[in-house]
Amino acid sequence: MDPVIIDRLGHQGDGIAPGPLFAPLTLPGEAVTGTVSGDRLTDVRIVTPSPDRVAAPCRHYRACGGCSLQHASDAFVANWKVEVVRRALLAQHIEAEFLPIETSPAASRRRAALSVRRTKKGALAGFHARASDVIADVPDCQLLDPGLMPALKVAEELAIAGGSRKGELSVLATISETGLDLAVTGGKPLSGAEEGRLRIDLARVAEERGLSRLAWDDEVVALRLSPTQRFDGIAVVPPPGAFLQATPQGEAALLAAVKRIVGKAGRVVDLFAGCGTFGLPLARGAEVHGVEGAAAMTRAMDHGWRHATGLKKVTGETRDLFRNPLIVEDLKGFDAAVIDPPRAGAEAQVAELAAARVPVIAHVSCNPVTFAREARELLAVGYEMGPVQVVDQFRWSPHVELVAGFSLNSA
Ligand SMILES: C[S@@+](CC[C@H](N)C(=O)[O-])C[C@H]1O[C@@H](n2cnc3c(N)ncnc32)[C@H](O)[C@@H]1O
Repeated sequence: MDPVIIDRLGHQGDGIAPGPLFAPLTLPGEAVTGTVSGDRLTDVRIVTPSPDRVAAPCRHYRACGGCSLQHASDAFVANWKVEVVRRALLAQHIEAEFLPIETSPAASRRRAALSVRRTKKGALAGFHARASDVIADVPDCQLLDPGLMPALKVAEELAIAGGSRKGELSVLATISETGLDLAVTGGKPLSGAEEGRLRIDLARVAEERGLSRLAWDDEVVALRLSPTQRFDGIAVVPPPGAFLQATPQGEAALLAAVKRIVGKAGRVVDLFAGCGTFGLPLARGAEVHGVEGAAAMTRAMDHGWRHATGLKKVTGETRDLFRNPLIVEDLKGFDAAVIDPPRAGAEAQVAELAAARVPVIAHVSCNPVTFAREARELLAVGYEMGPVQVVDQFRWSPHVELVAGFSLNSA
């Protein structure tokens, strides 16, 4: 085929040539050839490389699908992520000011979802190869914190102990203060004839590998030590598989932005609070009401507050904020709100915040499109938007996170 020119990157980080024709591992401006298969280009050959192209820092990059932007310079990726947010806002007719992006360093991921499969020789843990169900072996992964690397071997032992012959285990591995905290799904059930043997084998792996906790399909099968996390120094023990920010640096950058926006507010409502990542640190200066959908996470936040010193009052509420958002009446008396919804956004809850005229809102988001829609709603009723802080804690992936503040002009 004649070379085609890549003119942009799509949401998954693939290069896109007119057509559209998706070409993985390419960059805007590059002339490329390959084999056309539907709307994809395979066996891609770079005819003219971009000046932003770099040698991938990880030797597994070609085979592993865990990262998709290692072939681009850090400066290119940083600029691209900011532009993704800028374009989402412009689509809603919003022109924003941007602070410099905060990118987590290499080898800083403190948690990862590993895929594991039994093999003829034993088992293999890693990440899926690009657009494939094959698992790539990643002993020199550049993404994971070195403290998380032993989880690969442990995951393989767990698959040998409790993986089915055909299926695949998913192992969510997190570094905790007392050792690795693993939550496994997709293995043999903890019931039936093999139950006793399975429980013994899982407990043995947890003991031999010094895990802090091992959960199997949401049931804790070994708890050797409390798998403690610290939110700005405040100790919390999250339930198995609970949401946590992906890197300590990413969490610190998001928290710093939230603190700056909330300022000296005396009463803060923390919506989609998780285990208190933002709410507990904010309680050093404010009374906080944290609302979260998962009861076990609300309990973890409450437990953290009860065992901490120097915090103002924190109350927790378990509530489905999609079906049952806090309404105007519930929001009376709060000086500030923090809202950090899942990817779907929180249209109904943001509408209530706007109607209640909560004076300050710190909006944290992992989806620039839903964020921009909600920003438009707030601007339409008189809020002003502060600078946008883009945070990249999913280095070398197309994920983007951001925080921005909204305030009512009191004049
Ligand atoms: C992006 S996480 C943020 C959590 C927390 N702010 C943090 O930084 O750790 C979104 C949170 O929303 C919670 N969630 C998801 N759907 C929900 C719903 N319908 N109602 C309330 N909370 C929900 C999840 O359990 C998760 O803790």
